Amino acid sequence: MIPESFLQELLNRTDIVGLIDAHVPLKKAGANYAACCPFHSEKTPSFTVSSSKQFYHCFGCGAHGSAIGFLMEYTGIGFLDAVRDLAARAGMLVPETQTGRAGSGDERDGASVRNLGQLLARAAEWYYGQLKNAPDAIDYLKRRGVSGETARTFRIGYAPPGWQNLAAIFSDYQSPELLAAGLAVENDSGRRYDRFRGRIMFPIVSAKGEVVGFGGRVLDGVQNRDRDGDSGPKYLNSPETPLFSKGQELFGLPQARAGLRETDTAIVVEGYMDVVMLAQHGVKNAVATLGTATTPAHVQKLLRQVARIVFCFDGDAAGRKAAWRALENSLESIGEQKLIAFAFLPEAHDPDSFVSEYGKDAFLRLIAEATPLSDFLLRELATQCDMTSAEGRAKLLALAKPLLARFSAPLLRLQIVKRLAEASGFSQQEVERLCELRPIVPPAPPRAQRPAPSLLRTLIGDLLQRPELARRVPLEALPEDDPDSELLRRLVAALLPESVEDGEEDAGVCSHAMLIERLRSRGDQDLLRQLSGINQDLLQESFSEGDVETEFRTSLEKLAEMQSRRAFEQLKEKARKLGVAGLSSEEKARYLQLLAAANLWEKRS
Ligand code: UTP
Ligand code: MN
Repeated sequence: MIPESFLQELLNRTDIVGLIDAHVPLKKAGANYAACCPFHSEKTPSFTVSSSKQFYHCFGCGAHGSAIGFLMEYTGIGFLDAVRDLAARAGMLVPETQTGRAGSGDERDGASVRNLGQLLARAAEWYYGQLKNAPDAIDYLKRRGVSGETARTFRIGYAPPGWQNLAAIFSDYQSPELLAAGLAVENDSGRRYDRFRGRIMFPIVSAKGEVVGFGGRVLDGVQNRDRDGDSGPKYLNSPETPLFSKGQELFGLPQARAGLRETDTAIVVEGYMDVVMLAQHGVKNAVATLGTATTPAHVQKLLRQVARIVFCFDGDAAGRKAAWRALENSLESIGEQKLIAFAFLPEAHDPDSFVSEYGKDAFLRLIAEATPLSDFLLRELATQCDMTSAEGRAKLLALAKPLLARFSAPLLRLQIVKRLAEASGFSQQEVERLCELRPIVPPAPPRAQRPAPSLLRTLIGDLLQRPELARRVPLEALPEDDPDSELLRRLVAALLPESVEDGEEDAGVCSHAMLIERLRSRGDQDLLRQLSGINQDLLQESFSEGDVETEFRTSLEKLAEMQSRRAFEQLKEKARKLGVAGLSSEEKARYLQLLAAANLWEKRS
């Protein structure tokens, strides 16, 4: 593990404002900096960066972290890589750790998964390099109009023909990891060979930026025959592995990141080549499912980043069917503020051929004119019913019923119910009854104006601003049974150095950014989440940045007074029950003392 003193120094030397500004242009906003949040889609900036406290926080989605966290979340790299990156910028040398040459990737993942990730990354680089030596493959890509730059952007590579090419780059070709990564396969007699042979290779990269699998396409027109004379399927994909699950991943997602942010729209297509050629024509917000139907996980993943999804499938029957599956799998995930629509291409076109033939503008027109989900739904259902007969109109409701049950957005559902009523001749209430619709409980409205922070919350805020105050919190004076007490206790414990280790000079109490990292390394994200509301207040300056010391001292006085009041109430209660004689002499003395103080409290209030 990386020593805390190093992390502290690294965070001290890093300026989070400059770091973030290079990726997400920031504007000065009061004492802080603001921008539209890169982690969720929004129109007004609620992403805030504090220069004095060196952390970022989004009021919209709650994203929160230090410079290290930002790099990890934004670029998708692992903790160690983020530390290395920042260290390089700060001119610091990352201490070699016991884990040896700390591997790339995130150490929260199991070692084996990391290993698989490394194998896949290495294979991807090798395939990419092989393209240069493969005139057939280059020729093929050229014929399809793929430019060199596009090939670079998507790291398109080539797996040459041959059974055991990978043995040359993986010294242990027999290792189980190579099988687990889906790079090699074994036949019945246990002979091992490369899965991908004689194929154009499309690396599938996760949102975190790691290669998790491949799609490999045969070169048509080129002899690519296996022993049994079969060139296999047109596209061969990686199998499901611990790293790769088709139902989760989307091809082109990391490359589309900027495009998604700019347009607030994701275009979902079916093919690798569709994504690649759209990007080449300047449509940079397309992603593809991987030879499977769109899953709810896909939809959720995208709707976290954009407000609108347009499914753009082929103009044939198969395309319509795929669109319908996508519709079914979107219903649960589509929220009120989100939009899902369907663009249909002319028969015999896919996005690749369409954009290549008619260009970007024609394609974008198609996207702009896409059919909204509600229209598509009603239209498709209506084609299955004879709307001129009463039976047909009843059938319409029967078909709609299971779909309506899946909506989670009440207004959207209502809109469809109204249109069903119109189309079927039933009243809105009748449609609701016939379809057995229950009201959808809307999510709780955003919290109203936060009340002035309580005493304990003020103290917590003070500590977050000036962590060194942690040493001065009288833990014994905190009230029992108060969740904020518990929070404060945990915060103090996290801020104070546990014990000074040999050789490491007293790191002192840690800074705010360091606190975030310390909690990360302890896996205590929960505390961070709980502190999140207070962090928000900090940024909103309901806490004065100015005189924290005075505020802290006043709070401690109030805390002491609260404690005294509690003690007084207890003694009073005891005296009432047992009579003053029931108190010990110390209790009596204390009682008298508190009685005098109580007079003061009375006067003040
Ligand atoms: P298409 O057959 O529409 O191919 O398959 P395409 O993308 O237009 O490919 P080109 O233009 O001929 O190169 C769409 C997607 O379905 C999956 C792949 O993910 C492909 O991109 N697929 C297709 C397979 O997984 N295996 C296949 O054999 C074919
Ligand atoms: Mn195609």
